[in-house]
Amino acid sequence: MTEDLKIAQTGDKQEKYITLISQLHSLIFGEPDIVANLANISAALKETFNWWWVGFYLVKGDELVLGPFQGPIACTRIRHGKGVCGTAWKEKKSLLVPDVNAFPGHIACSAASVSEIVTPILNKSGEVVGVLDVDSEHYDVLDDTDVRFLEEISQICSKLL
Ligand code: SME
Repeated sequence: MTEDLKIAQTGDKQEKYITLISQLHSLIFGEPDIVANLANISAALKETFNWWWVGFYLVKGDELVLGPFQGPIACTRIRHGKGVCGTAWKEKKSLLVPDVNAFPGHIACSAASVSEIVTPILNKSGEVVGVLDVDSEHYDVLDDTDVRFLEEISQICSKLL
């Protein structure tokens, strides 16, 4: 695995994702443990973008259970169809929420988080096995570019689960 994460310094979001994704494969190469890999992926995302919170919830039975993450403590269990995470699971699609106050049923793990993206992680059968959740304390940071690249990262994660 790589020892130091390289972060594109151009200030361009796309460039940062491309630099990050090119390193993710070597970061997880040869390591079969899912917790170790998801922990490093969430750390690499946090180090690159310094979001308020970034991490994983994994499907266990009829709930999402908190997985590896970076940021403040968070809700441990989310039911199917509840909150942004549970809705992304139910609808099997990414959700970009520019203002969490405008999302009915949003689960406020932290009052500081005001915008959010959740992308589902699907297994080979097309079932949701987890979600990748990014929270920002700013309204104007997360957009469709993030959705596109976070979906790409979710696809990398889907091969691990
Ligand atoms: N806000 C999420 C809950 C998870 S935390 O943001 C880490 C939701 O509504 O599902």
